[in-house]
Amino acid sequence: MVGRLDGRVAVITGGGSGIGLECARRFVREGARVVLADRNADPLTAAVAELGASAVGEVVDVTEEADVERMVARAVDEFGGLDTAVNAAGFGTFGFVADHPVDEWRAVIDTDLTGVMLSVKHEAQVMRAAGNGAIVNIASINARVPAEGMSAYCCAKAAVEMLTKCAAMELGPYGVRVSGIGPGFVDTPLTAFTQVVPAIREAYVASTPLGRAGQPDDIADAALFLVSDEGRWVSGDTLFVDGASMLKSYPELHKIAGA
Ligand code: NAI
Repeated sequence: MVGRLDGRVAVITGGGSGIGLECARRFVREGARVVLADRNADPLTAAVAELGASAVGEVVDVTEEADVERMVARAVDEFGGLDTAVNAAGFGTFGFVADHPVDEWRAVIDTDLTGVMLSVKHEAQVMRAAGNGAIVNIASINARVPAEGMSAYCCAKAAVEMLTKCAAMELGPYGVRVSGIGPGFVDTPLTAFTQVVPAIREAYVASTPLGRAGQPDDIADAALFLVSDEGRWVSGDTLFVDGASMLKSYPELHKIAGA
């Protein structure tokens, strides 16, 4: 059977966990070979053991340009090129603007925005030279939906949506597509804190017309569409995969959590 990504090589940042790991599983099932990049070594080791010869792991902090260069070089050295990337490394902090420590703000902007920029930069250099490629940046519904207590995350994700547009314009003439995905609430280790405060997860689900939390494969399927040939005339857009939750008001997390 022919896979939709047969012969392609992908790098996936945040590949040790959650959405990034599920994209890796999906891409490998479709015939791709993947470089999983994550700042945490242990989950990478487990992921590579699961995926077998089609995957290698690279410990990378996406805020460090030298690490990102090494990640891309690993794809070229190990698998002979780079066709596809999913930039999923990210996290958030909670704090009202008036009280938010600036080092926490900078850490979020550094990973969620500058880390995506550095990833696109080095992925695009290989793809531009080859004359084709497809990149997906993982944003969030918070690129468009403001949330109290999450200003750093919201600002970083809004900027990722804009970065995706700018990069798509610059790289389109070289045959390189750049798209985004804006997930709604997805059950991953990032959102596992809602097991401690179940009312938060319940509030997300209540504000989701399709009536359930997202799962990592909901996002991986969208990423597969965007990077595969089926997405060949899509670039510059961010696809919101959120069970229609953007149509409803965002849960007031700080009130639910008693912050
Ligand atoms: P996750 O926590 O399961 O996975 C994120 C991975 O990124 C982790 O393995 C972490 O080690 C890695 N990472 C964090 N900072 C890094 C850095 N500086 N360098 C390298 N790796 C780093 O989280 P999840 O849910 O899979 O999130 C993936 C992306 O999806 C993130 O960008 C997140 O903001 C976004 N997202 C997630 C949503 C959700 O509800 N889970 C909703 C909307 C967006």
